[in-house]
Amino acid sequence: MLSATLYSLLAVAAGVAAQTATPSAQDAPLVTNNPIGASYVAVLPKKDGSSLGGSIQVVSGPGGKGAKFAVSISGLPAEGGPFMYHIHEKPVPENGNCTATGAHLDPYKRGEIPLCNPEDKKQCQTGDLSGKYGNITGSSLAVQYEDLFTSLTPGTPAFFGNLSFVVHLSNKTRIGCANFQFLGGGISSVASSGYAAPTGAHHGGNSTISSPTLTGTGSPYGNGGTPTSSSTNNPQNSDSAASQVILGAGAVLAGVMALVL
Ligand SMILES: *[C@@H]1O[C@H](CO)[C@@H](O)[C@H](O)[C@H]1NC(C)=O
Ligand SMILES: *[C@@H]1O[C@H](CO)[C@@H](O)[C@H](O)[C@H]1NC(C)=O
Ligand SMILES: *[C@@H]1O[C@H](CO)[C@@H](O)[C@H](O)[C@H]1NC(C)=O
Ligand SMILES: *[C@@H]1O[C@H](CO)[C@@H](O)[C@H](O)[C@H]1NC(C)=O
Ligand SMILES: *[C@@H]1O[C@H](CO)[C@@H](O)[C@H](O)[C@H]1NC(C)=O
Repeated sequence: MLSATLYSLLAVAAGVAAQTATPSAQDAPLVTNNPIGASYVAVLPKKDGSSLGGSIQVVSGPGGKGAKFAVSISGLPAEGGPFMYHIHEKPVPENGNCTATGAHLDPYKRGEIPLCNPEDKKQCQTGDLSGKYGNITGSSLAVQYEDLFTSLTPGTPAFFGNLSFVVHLSNKTRIGCANFQFLGGGISSVASSGYAAPTGAHHGGNSTISSPTLTGTGSPYGNGGTPTSSSTNNPQNSDSAASQVILGAGAVLAGVMALVL
């Protein structure tokens, strides 16, 4: 077994080689230094004529190794599955145009083909969440997992905190997309990088939805974890978009908790 350090060095070397299209160029390095407690959420906006909704919440993994994801997506259409979802390389613009999010987050340039083998996730596109953790086969999905290749450190290749995720039909049609928003945690690292957090997302101190699902000390996977419902919706008078997003996410995640527990 390679040590983590050696592994990282090899993977970095492989990433450099990607530019010259070496076949072994695609391995993503393990991310081991995510800022402790850093937390982000992306909430699908409601659209007229569509029942699609949901969110992806992310916090740094234990000891900063990788990131924990809580994915909750519902209201998928009866036709057009299995559905895929990915982190994309650009944010959604103000007009909500999912096409403008570009391709999947793929800092190590492995491309979409061949399809990701979930048994060997380092060879998958970093943003290919459904490739690594499974398509959505029904009308909804509620899962949690730890991904070791995504970064919550701004300025690193696998950082996605200022990007988006997109939900696709099996024919790749984009049916929903949402931007990640910074909720809190890992402040010093984030601040020193110059990444601007959305106002309202964390300056109240208590960043609402992060604790019940992902940062609790109990099982993050829902066997016996105790939901701390007091940490969700604290509806203060707020007209900031970010706060509204977070309150909406709180409602969504309350739904996640109901499903998970
Ligand atoms: C993708 O599938 C949907 C639903 O099955 C269909 O309405 C749409 O026309 C298809 N788009 C393309 C580009 O094939
Ligand atoms: C959406 O974004 C794509 C890619 O940037 C662009 O080609 C298209 O014109 C945009 N559509 C709208 C309605 O803005
Ligand atoms: C996102 O942050 C990275 C730094 O990690 C920066 O290089 C990139 O330009 C940012 N992207 C957008 C769309 O703001
Ligand atoms: C996931 O869905 C896509 C699109 O339908 C399909 O190409 C792919 O084979 C599916 N992956 C798995 C593991 O079933
Ligand atoms: C955050 O919550 C704690 C306990 O729940 C409370 O003591 C503290 O005053 C709150 N901070 C803010 C800024 O609301």
